Amino acid sequence: MFDFAPTDGADKPVLYADLLSAARAVTDGESDGIANMANVAALLWHMLPDLNWAGFYRLVGDALVLGPFQGKAACIRIALGKGVCGTAAATRTTILVEDVHAFPGHIACDTASASEIVVPVMADGRLVAVLDLDSPVRARFDAEDRAGLEALVAAIGKTLRHD
Ligand code: SME
Repeated sequence: MFDFAPTDGADKPVLYADLLSAARAVTDGESDGIANMANVAALLWHMLPDLNWAGFYRLVGDALVLGPFQGKAACIRIALGKGVCGTAAATRTTILVEDVHAFPGHIACDTASASEIVVPVMADGRLVAVLDLDSPVRARFDAEDRAGLEALVAAIGKTLRHD
């Protein structure tokens, strides 16, 4: 059984260090990328405050396809270059959006979303997925979230391969 509790009151670097340890623990030795995405989505959902969606879109062929997540049912397919997810995937760079209503082409899967961060997941130099977090709080994500999430996917990206 895995039982990771949120680190109440901790600052973000501590929180992301705890999250990284937990993600390593649940993915260590497991080769099924879908199972690993599911467990990491659950960790993100339970350990990070103020989220209304946390999960993955997988690169399948030349499109992003909905992967394991927590939150409301979401759009299934996103073309590369479209929305925040497709932009992060096409550019292989993290996209941090303080106000989704100001992002041209933002795809609204949950009207509660106010801010969003999408981080590309790479393995052996190839894009395998994007990690997407949404929040009902405007400007919920900052440079510390970006650094923490980029370190997370850099550490466990290989365990998220799904083909
Ligand atoms: N908002 C995303 C779509 C995915 S949902 O947030 C779960 C986008 O613009 O790509």
